[in-house]
Amino acid sequence: MPPLHFSWDSDGRAVFAGAPVSGLASAFGTPLYLYDERDLTARIEAYSQAFGKENVAVAAKAFLTGRLLDLAQAAGLGLDVVSEGELEFALRLGFPPERIIMHGLHKPASALRTAARQGVGLVVLESPGEVEETVRVARQEKARIPVLLRLAPAVDVHTHPSLATGAPASQFGVPIADGQALETVRLLLSAEDAIDFKGYHMHVGSQIATLDPFLSGAAAVATFARTVFSETGSWPEILDLGGGLGISPDSPSPASLRQAYAATIAPILKSGPMPRLMTEPGRYIVSPPGVTVYHIVQRKTAADGRTYLIVDGGMSDGPRPALYGARPELAVSPDRSGEELVDIAGMHCESGDIVRRDVRVTSTEVGDLLIVFDTGAYNHSMASHYNRVSVPPVVFVKDGVARPATRRDNLSDWLRLEVR
Ligand SMILES: Cc1ncc(COP(=O)(O)O)c(C=O)c1O
Repeated sequence: MPPLHFSWDSDGRAVFAGAPVSGLASAFGTPLYLYDERDLTARIEAYSQAFGKENVAVAAKAFLTGRLLDLAQAAGLGLDVVSEGELEFALRLGFPPERIIMHGLHKPASALRTAARQGVGLVVLESPGEVEETVRVARQEKARIPVLLRLAPAVDVHTHPSLATGAPASQFGVPIADGQALETVRLLLSAEDAIDFKGYHMHVGSQIATLDPFLSGAAAVATFARTVFSETGSWPEILDLGGGLGISPDSPSPASLRQAYAATIAPILKSGPMPRLMTEPGRYIVSPPGVTVYHIVQRKTAADGRTYLIVDGGMSDGPRPALYGARPELAVSPDRSGEELVDIAGMHCESGDIVRRDVRVTSTEVGDLLIVFDTGAYNHSMASHYNRVSVPPVVFVKDGVARPATRRDNLSDWLRLEVR
């Protein structure tokens, strides 16, 4: 899906958020990540309206730069981080600690100490071992850490196996059915001096295009909350229902998701006050506003006759086709007559570096620009230096004005890491 403010002018040139893409490519080079700032803001607004801004934490793992933090902060949103690196990065750039939700299967003691000292809003724990470690750090720091328990709701999601996080075999969360989750709640409640137990978390998976998996997960969480209440008297203040909303045209809207959550949870929790329903969108907010721009640098014919277009980037800046079999939409300038069926390959020394197989594009020449859509999520944040290829710069564009968010890294940056 192209971003909200993407069009072709009468000469067949691509225009991105009011600026010609050719001009942006000349100014910043290619490959290049572009973000339509007004589209980002509109998506942030859609989530804020649906859930209330204080209940939305943008998933940093999908895309994290200072400019995104500025937009999230200005809109009153929170941030979900999954590592000490994301936590420290956000804090160093001035993101308010009380609006941070801290995740991760491995939270080193140093990260828990930072959370305790800086007053991180919520720490989401994933195992009894983590509860013990958090209690230890909180007591050392003479702090009381606000905690959610991540549940494994055992929901099978029809998505790529690497994107399903709530399934029975998943390493995330604490299982409910075998009693582990209830035992872990008892552990949390027994350390009231160190733990401010706020409620539950789930994240059933990503790229979900129907309500069912979200609602099965929410029902499992709410049912567990009721069990805990009858066993211990503890009632949740917060249910954080994770992210995962897909971006296909038939995916539910944030508003219908919020409504459906409430309609599922309220009858199950009828015996007490409705908890705050929080959410952690990543892809929905940052993917459609982002595109990657490449130059086509070579054209060649393979032994089986297929035509390859080679671009000046690939799996180092856009790993999703190789990782998840993603088939991104893309476009070249439509001003030429004719169409051809091509395969588009990245420049890396790897036969899996295919941007798209079997795609029809308007006739191209070496030197043309190729625009890949929906690359705003899990591309820049997953970029690597494979083959010592630079990570492209990120540029936000609004009303024709380009504002760089990161620069392209280079040989000097890499050499600075060398020790010999
Ligand atoms: C705990 C948690 N929250 C939120 C997200 C964001 O998911 P998405 O980008 O699909 O919305 C993820 C992604 O895997 C996650 O693991």
